[in-house]
Amino acid sequence: MPAISASAPGKIILFGEHAVVYGRPAIAVPVLQVRAKAIVRANPRAQSGQVFIQAPDINLNTTLDDLPTTHPIAAAIRAVTSTMHLQQPPACNLRITSTIPIAAGMGSGAAVTVAILRALSAFWGNPLNDEQVSGMAYEVEKIHHGTPSGIDNHVVTYAMPVYFRRGHPVETLGVPIAFEIVIGNTGISSPTAVAVGDVRKAWQSDPIKYNTWFDEVSAIVESAREAIEAGQIDSLGPLMDHNHALLQQMQVSSPELDRLVEAARAAGAPGAKLSGGGRGGNMIALVKDGNAQPIIKAIQTAGGTDVLVTRIR
Ligand code: PMV
Repeated sequence: MPAISASAPGKIILFGEHAVVYGRPAIAVPVLQVRAKAIVRANPRAQSGQVFIQAPDINLNTTLDDLPTTHPIAAAIRAVTSTMHLQQPPACNLRITSTIPIAAGMGSGAAVTVAILRALSAFWGNPLNDEQVSGMAYEVEKIHHGTPSGIDNHVVTYAMPVYFRRGHPVETLGVPIAFEIVIGNTGISSPTAVAVGDVRKAWQSDPIKYNTWFDEVSAIVESAREAIEAGQIDSLGPLMDHNHALLQQMQVSSPELDRLVEAARAAGAPGAKLSGGGRGGNMIALVKDGNAQPIIKAIQTAGGTDVLVTRIR
């Protein structure tokens, strides 16, 4: 049997993080130059049901039976066997690699899960469709994030810009005029679950204040959607700045994120904001007239790492 491989891209949230957990909309886009990949090969010498897992990026070299059931990779594999009603599927070797920075708000966990679900289901003879993949990836995301909104699994599965609102069918966004953003990493790894948990506690202690901020974010997201779909990219800059200010008020920015955001603006970015869970991880800056170089340089000089430009179309 030939090896089967599948992959899924990274993602970045353009607008609406955190508020999206509370039923407000958000916009996220795939980042196609970074990817998670899963390759499955038959292992005729092993007993059926056995899955050997190699994930060199996280120093994992084990069998499925030796992984705790709560491990996201184990959960993804078991989701496939249980959906396909497989008791003892043909033994295989599963190799997972990824170029997506970990714990940086780029959907690495969701992309690894999606790649595993696709590769194993195809290997065992019944490829899952996108809706199944996204739904199952959402269940695995709960292990990473506690109470995920569902945006990561959607954008990573469909690999298209999405307008997402919890409990509503996902909508893909038309982008008539492509645009670029620079993504810069603070280098500080910050688990999303912690930031999401802190926002929840703060929301519980002052729901009126937080709901007002979430509603303001919601209005920003609606304006951003209109601007993107109308090709009015210039309008996005001030919307990014406003969204960042609200995230600062929610206490999910950090001095490092603010430094990169300010450096990007000073270098000519029409707007910039943190992206994802915050406290560390990534920020994004809008590029004007294809002139990304000064923004890249400014972010690097301010301490940013893994700086990359992605084109949204
Ligand atoms: O971009 P990430 O993977 O850090 O996700 C964070 C997005 C939040 O809105 C903060 C949480 C969520 O589940 O949507």
